Amino acid sequence: MTKTSNWDYKIIKSVIPKSYIKLLTDYFTSKKEVYQTMLDKGYINEHSPSDFGTMFDPDMPGMFCIYGDVMNDMLMSNLKPRMEEETGMSLVPTYSFMRIYTNGNKLPRHKDRSSCEISTTLNLDGDMWPIFLKMDDRPNEEIEVKLNPGDMLIYRGCDQEHWRNEFRGSSSVQTFLHYNNVDGPFGKTNMYDARAHLGLPEQFRDIG
Ligand SMILES: [Fe+2]
Repeated sequence: MTKTSNWDYKIIKSVIPKSYIKLLTDYFTSKKEVYQTMLDKGYINEHSPSDFGTMFDPDMPGMFCIYGDVMNDMLMSNLKPRMEEETGMSLVPTYSFMRIYTNGNKLPRHKDRSSCEISTTLNLDGDMWPIFLKMDDRPNEEIEVKLNPGDMLIYRGCDQEHWRNEFRGSSSVQTFLHYNNVDGPFGKTNMYDARAHLGLPEQFRDIG
């Protein structure tokens, strides 16, 4: 098959087996519970390293999220060959991010920073919550993407505006795996999102 990077976005159905989707959901749900107990007991606070996760992300306060979780970064790394096949590019992993959304959340229209050149959102669990994309060359068109648990959307996070409308369900567990094109402008500088290696918290960006 000829490799091509001539795509706007792609939906990959059942990108990993259902049993792994459940394992990841249980893992992240459990991490949230562990985080909450540690917070309640005063073992950690809002400034604690992000490998515990946090509920104090300024972009979405009160929502549990984890940057660069070891398991999640390994998922990103293990999916690299599949991502290269799908995108037609040689890729370098940058960072993973997981968030558990709840009723009433919104994701405002935005574009992402350069480490998100090739972005994915993988729906792990919860109620249906479509994501919308807008292409710069088709400003009047809004593309609605509906993902079932196990389905992953690949899109160009820096170039394509994306958002989600107000969430009417009770919970949505989403993980985001980000890559850069090795041959692109950030292929070298953004490797591992400027961390010394995968699995390190966000505080290790640029300091090794
Ligand atoms: Fe984004």
